Amino acid sequence: MDTKNIRNFVIIAHIDHGKSTLADRLLEATETVSERQLQPQYLDQLESERERGITIKMAPVRMIYQDYILNLIDTPGHSDFSYEVSRALAAVEGAVLLVDAAQGIQAQTLANFEAAKKAGLKIIGAVTKIDLKPAHLEDTIDTLADLLEVDASEIIKVSGKTGEGVEELLSHIIKDIPAPQAGSEDNQALIFDSYYDEHKGVIAFVRVFSGRFDPSKTIQFVATNSSTKIKELGYFQPKYTPSKQLANGEIGYIATGIKDPNQIKIGDTITLKEKPATALADYQEPQPVVFVSFYPQDNNDFDNLKQALAKLQLNDSSLVFEPDSSELLGRGFQSGFLGQLHFEIIAERLAKEFDLETVQSFPSVQYRVKTRSGMEDINSPKDFPDEYIEAQEPMVQLEIIAPSEYLGGVMSLAEVFRLSDFETENLGNRMLIKAKLPLADLISDFDDKLKSLSEGYASLSYELIGYQTNELEKLEILVAGFVVPGLTRILPKDRVEREARVTVEKLKELLPRQQFKQALQAKAHGQIIARETIPAFRKDVTGYLYGGDRTRKMKLWKKQQKGKARLQERADKTQVQIPASIFKELLKK
Ligand code: GTP
Repeated sequence: MDTKNIRNFVIIAHIDHGKSTLADRLLEATETVSERQLQPQYLDQLESERERGITIKMAPVRMIYQDYILNLIDTPGHSDFSYEVSRALAAVEGAVLLVDAAQGIQAQTLANFEAAKKAGLKIIGAVTKIDLKPAHLEDTIDTLADLLEVDASEIIKVSGKTGEGVEELLSHIIKDIPAPQAGSEDNQALIFDSYYDEHKGVIAFVRVFSGRFDPSKTIQFVATNSSTKIKELGYFQPKYTPSKQLANGEIGYIATGIKDPNQIKIGDTITLKEKPATALADYQEPQPVVFVSFYPQDNNDFDNLKQALAKLQLNDSSLVFEPDSSELLGRGFQSGFLGQLHFEIIAERLAKEFDLETVQSFPSVQYRVKTRSGMEDINSPKDFPDEYIEAQEPMVQLEIIAPSEYLGGVMSLAEVFRLSDFETENLGNRMLIKAKLPLADLISDFDDKLKSLSEGYASLSYELIGYQTNELEKLEILVAGFVVPGLTRILPKDRVEREARVTVEKLKELLPRQQFKQALQAKAHGQIIARETIPAFRKDVTGYLYGGDRTRKMKLWKKQQKGKARLQERADKTQVQIPASIFKELLKK
């Protein structure tokens, strides 16, 4: 088909604003998927996506409507996945900026809007969930129109539930979004995502920017310089549907047969081996910002954990991991994530899809520390030196949108978190609050605190803005005399004393009692700065002896005491059991 009849677009929205549900209606209206086959949120295929009701991986789909090919890429809404969104934006010409009419513009609406604008996309504004007859519909429309600098009449009203307005939206997509431009003489396709298939190897999801590709050709990857014969190519309808070629302007897949995922880099350009071309603009490499160590609850599961992480990595190129070990927790892996939610999802997938129980360390950020031997990046708190010349930590620029009455509440977060450089702006009947915050604070329950104090009305987006020098110190926790590396944290110096006290007190409540008493200690700058003791639980060995035989009771108690002494001795040497749930509880402020 002629490129002038192709429209490539994304739907971008704040989390839960109804993208996937609207995508369902588009699939229906274009008869891409029959009503019978359509499960709600059809494009969210991962189990964790369905359970949490959020989109993690984007799923492209090709729809035929009237005389047009409409290629839609559904995108995730959370800040952690802004990397996925940026890749999708580079593959299309237009975006539908969708706003839940009841919720109004939220932080991610703004962040996505900025990203789409920067990518030079034609943006169509739409409000959804109008079937709910939201009270502030007109306000939401006006604010969205202001943001897009268009007249309020240009904002399209839709409902993903009833399908109202969907035909109108489709006609705007065709009318307003530009067709792909004619490409150059070369053959170039941009890889915007990939998927690992047991049989077909790595499947590259591509947007062709010039020329054409057909299954007879040998392709070359510009950045990695590897080449392979095409195994199969085709479109997402939405299932993989083989075709004879992929031509300029089209979105589709190329099955490469390659089993080593490292040969296919997202953001790389595919050209032909017989006539190599230059790279299209490159994507940013995804940068992990949150680091967590996973240790299998059962040490025999180490190899299973390794395989599980490798499998997850095949379809999630932003996941990185390397071996890690600890005296107490055994062998494990340190993994890097794009953010806290990304980490939680992977932890959940390890448990659900691979049935692996793991103990996890506190999530940490990457510190830059200057010692006498030079500058060093530190991803694991246990490696943070006790003495240093200078320490730097990553900072984020936050954007919070909240109804005005919560402004005071949001500002009060500065008492617990290291918020600085506040700026506020009116946004319709709400406030846009900008502030700086160390990333380490953001991943320490900031989101939950913000949600609870604003009764769920405040939303948040963030962007990394570089490193800042701060006074930091390592806090270690010892159980029964052993440092538990997973509990080591880096904290601002002036908060170490308080955190040390709170942590040992909390641990005393949280850690299961054993048959022996356990000493809990917090250590910083080479000194124990807080301590508690978990008492032994006492088995009532005399319970069955009624009445007065005191001598027998005394004998039994003595025996129990001896046994305890033995246990205590053993406890000092063997592993201290740290249940996985403890870390999350400890993070709560
Ligand atoms: P993420 O992928 O997590 O960003 O969410 P999403 O934007 O894809 O939202 P999703 O389609 O999962 O919808 C979120 C919730 O809103 C679901 O419970 C939907 O059933 C509901 N919903 C979506 N669209 C409509 C609508 O038009 N009307 C009503 N009444 N509910 C809707």
